[in-house]
Amino acid sequence: AIEGDEYAFSPTPSVPRRTSKLGIVGAGAVGSTMAYAALMRGAARTVALLDVNKAKVEAEVLDLSHGIQFMSMAEVMGSDDVSVMADCDVVMFTAGAKQKPGQSRLDLAEATISLVQKVLPGIVEVAPNAVYVMVTNPVDVVTYAALKISGLPPSQLFGSGTVLDSSRLRYLIARHTGVAVQNVHAYVAGEHGDTELPLWSSATIGSVPILEWASGDGGPLTREVRDAIAREVVESAYRIIEGKGATNYAIALAGSRIIEAVLKDERRILPVSSLLDGYLGMSDVCLSVPSIVGSSGVRERLEVPMSSDELMGMRRSAEAVRSVARRFGF
Ligand code: LAC
Repeated sequence: AIEGDEYAFSPTPSVPRRTSKLGIVGAGAVGSTMAYAALMRGAARTVALLDVNKAKVEAEVLDLSHGIQFMSMAEVMGSDDVSVMADCDVVMFTAGAKQKPGQSRLDLAEATISLVQKVLPGIVEVAPNAVYVMVTNPVDVVTYAALKISGLPPSQLFGSGTVLDSSRLRYLIARHTGVAVQNVHAYVAGEHGDTELPLWSSATIGSVPILEWASGDGGPLTREVRDAIAREVVESAYRIIEGKGATNYAIALAGSRIIEAVLKDERRILPVSSLLDGYLGMSDVCLSVPSIVGSSGVRERLEVPMSSDELMGMRRSAEAVRSVARRFGF
């Protein structure tokens, strides 16, 4: 302290408030685009990439770091060593086999589950308190297997689920009706895959139930319009993979939305894939339903009112996912 002065000068700087650290496993098209999306949205102060391909991950880190001047301040790091994941607050698992043209997501299960078995335990060891979000497909089966492999509580590990499918659904409804996609509130539920289903009965546009909608450019969403939109949602990924080999932008943005909900404790309602425990009579399977997502992960699943058709669709989805998980011993 300076002689006789009230102000006690402290030579040691105040410990900086702990900043948020995002970990992304896999620096492929999805993982590196997700890092870019999260950085551009200022979602995390530190972004760490992990990939078995050291040259690739180091190149992605450099390329992203060279752009930091144009975004919120951040630090980007990466390695082929799991220690780079130390103390992450949220970990997005994007590493895994890529869907080939015409291949279903469920076909990827064996390759992805063995990768999760090899990699996940080591990450949980260095980042035991992170919220884990599985993105790799088949995401519902992979989420279920990852819960068993990691031993983490079902709130702390979940899957990106149908967040992406719901944004596809909203885009198509907005395009048909000519209103802003931000005012379309509609969810896809169930499997992130061929058995997914739009929850039409609870969907609204600006508080108008979609089943009663008759305004805007495209007029009512008749049964045939809704069926065509539902088909286009399911077929989206196949169509994009045919054309460019993979999907990456929208899934990365969906992932960034989940990252923000966790790191900013937003309590945002998102259709993520989590372990059902008696939800509408369904248990012991991971499926997407609208859920409250915050810093502790999945806080609560919302019991959205469903028509009998939608309930049947959910049960069909549960069976499809459960049968694949059982095939691999989960
Ligand atoms: C898709 C991938 C992420 O639906 O499954 O684009």
